[in-house]
Amino acid sequence: MKGNEAFTEDPIEVAWRSPSNIALIKYWGKHNGQLPINPSLSMTLSNSFSETSIKYRPGRYFGGDFHLVFLFEGEPNIAFEARIKKYLHSLLEELAFLKDSEIIIESQNSFPHSAGIASSASFFSSLALSLATLEGMFSGKGRATKILLPRASHLARLGSGSACRSVYGGFVSWGKLLSIKRSNDYTAMPLSLKHHPLFSGLRDTILIIDEKHKSVSSSAGHETMQNHPFRFARIQQAKNNMNRMLLALETGDWKLFSSVAENEALTLHALMMSSEKGFSLLHQNTLLAIEKIHKFRQETGARICFTIDAGPNVHLLYPAEDENIMQNFISEELVQLTCRDYKIDDMMGQGPIQIFN
Ligand code: PMV
Repeated sequence: MKGNEAFTEDPIEVAWRSPSNIALIKYWGKHNGQLPINPSLSMTLSNSFSETSIKYRPGRYFGGDFHLVFLFEGEPNIAFEARIKKYLHSLLEELAFLKDSEIIIESQNSFPHSAGIASSASFFSSLALSLATLEGMFSGKGRATKILLPRASHLARLGSGSACRSVYGGFVSWGKLLSIKRSNDYTAMPLSLKHHPLFSGLRDTILIIDEKHKSVSSSAGHETMQNHPFRFARIQQAKNNMNRMLLALETGDWKLFSSVAENEALTLHALMMSSEKGFSLLHQNTLLAIEKIHKFRQETGARICFTIDAGPNVHLLYPAEDENIMQNFISEELVQLTCRDYKIDDMMGQGPIQIFN
């Protein structure tokens, strides 16, 4: 659809479903808005996703502004609406079609809000994909995925840094790294290297150790890297870990994969503790879970490791072919450390899908 054809009374509706992602190499610290200080790498999930629709009616007069209604799981959400309004305002020059329009955004998650899964990643990815789809309609440039996905990744990044990786399925990198061709800080890219079959359908069982809201937001966390005493060492470490992780994924080296993934998770939390702010988001049961995983691995040689995001919950990573053994271990040893026997079984996914228009 081009230009004026869109100026009808009926709203135009687009909707996307986008999964969340879990970082194996952590993005921690940013500059000039949402540009990362170090490259990162994640796995896009499958079952943990957001669905976001935009109903858009152009040709109203709001003095160059727009009128927004936001519903989360069918209910108004004032705090989140304010964040989206700010986000859309920041895009008004880039997405001029938003000016003088009425916009209804509705969103829902497949996972409970309290689960400690990065809902901002799946939300901003699904919103950005919907915005990029609308833009494609109005620019007349079409919606070829070759154009749409990098554009959506850029728009998602401006909402929440890690969201730019959720636009693609599988293993995804973001940030300039010499060994990844065309890598840049502005958009994420699916890994072009063919990963070893050991990592196909990699499992991620999330132990919900604590459902409470984080005491420190990720924005405040990124901020602590500004004048962190280990800033430069961290940037170098992330680059080295990226290269080691790429090697592990390509060759199927589980030991290397697991040592890099755990090193990144522990580094993230060590950076929080050693920042001037000096805080920890870990729970005592997070540490107990780590101890149990290490013991089990030592005793049995099992291929299981963990990663942790900016919170207390533990992501258990293991190959699809080991699922039965790991599920036994999880229910016998780990599930007691969660709140209300709460775990979410997820795995690597194919990426977002368009669900409307
Ligand atoms: O996208 P943000 O600003 O919520 O930051 C996410 C930071 C981590 O989840 C800790 C790491 C990552 O790379 O996803």
